[in-house]
Amino acid sequence: MALILGIESTCDETAAAVVRDGTHVLSNVIATQFPLHEKFRGVVPEIASRAHIENLLPVLKESLSQAGCTFADVDAISITHRPGLIGSLLIGLTAAKTLAWTLNKPLIAVDHVHAHLYSVMLDSTSKPPQFPAVGLVISGGHTSLYSLQSFSNIILIGSTIDDAIGEAYDKVAAILNLPYPGGPPIDSRAAKGSPTVQLPRTLLEKNSLDFSFSGLKTAVLYHVKGTPQRIRHDLPPLPKPPPPELTPQHLADICASFQNTCIEIVLEKLRRAVRHTSAQSILIGGGVSANRGLRAALKQLHLPVLFPPLPYCTDNAAMSAGLAHLFYERQQFSPLSLDALTHSQFRDPA
Ligand code: KG4
Ligand code: ZN
Repeated sequence: MALILGIESTCDETAAAVVRDGTHVLSNVIATQFPLHEKFRGVVPEIASRAHIENLLPVLKESLSQAGCTFADVDAISITHRPGLIGSLLIGLTAAKTLAWTLNKPLIAVDHVHAHLYSVMLDSTSKPPQFPAVGLVISGGHTSLYSLQSFSNIILIGSTIDDAIGEAYDKVAAILNLPYPGGPPIDSRAAKGSPTVQLPRTLLEKNSLDFSFSGLKTAVLYHVKGTPQRIRHDLPPLPKPPPPELTPQHLADICASFQNTCIEIVLEKLRRAVRHTSAQSILIGGGVSANRGLRAALKQLHLPVLFPPLPYCTDNAAMSAGLAHLFYERQQFSPLSLDALTHSQFRDPA
């Protein structure tokens, strides 16, 4: 039996978790910073780092207490050391190194995005998925496709060329005056609407595995606020027509149209990725994998599609402590000179 204490601070969630043998989550504590960033409608890196400093110790204590163990009982410390905001990463990494050193426990470095893919295994009693698999991480910071031969052999095969899908949800929510983060309010309104608004379904080149969401977001903006008029400096400005009032039904229809377009894009990219890799299963992770519309729609793919349980969709430390178990078994530990990295992995040029 191995107990791993995981620490996560890559972006705006301060999290700690204790996971037994890679899948049994004994505690999963998350201090969310949404209220601090809400008014900026996005994460402010400096505010995030300061909040991590304040939250980390209480979160660590709470995670041990909920798991019913002490620092001494833990077999290793895992840390998501990439990718993320550098200030945020450094807070968690420094804490993890300090614990590993003072407690004389191994330190295990985990990639945050790989951990999102592993989150389908948490609290699961079923066997690991069939490999090769296609992995899709959809969150506020990432929209990337992966080819997995195993949970430790993961290759990036496609990613967004502009906005991440969760970022598009958050920006569209801002346009529609819905709360931040935008995913949950759009998801619930979409369920009450019809996809009657024509929006661009950007798929890029024929076999491209990359994504683009900025045009879709702009199309929603123009639909709601009107298309901008061409500015002619030699003429007096035209009077700006007032934006049309959004009725609750029109709002729901815009949400349904936006969500439907996102889902169609994701479905097509997954089909392409499965053809490209001959995958036997599909793993989805990241905050947007909580989306109810998406979960229902992906059932039409003729392959097993695995989603994380809802508490493990958004950022958490259980996913890192779970994946770290694999490296623990192989005794693949990290030195105390481990660096924080803002990037994950670059695409293989081949
Ligand atoms: O994985 P996550 O916690 O953080 C990043 O690594 O980015 O994902 C947060 C993102 C936000 O953009 C949020 O709007 C989105 O996940 N999200 C959703 C839903 N719940 C959260 N998007 C669509 N539908 C949801 N139900
Ligand atoms: Zn994440």
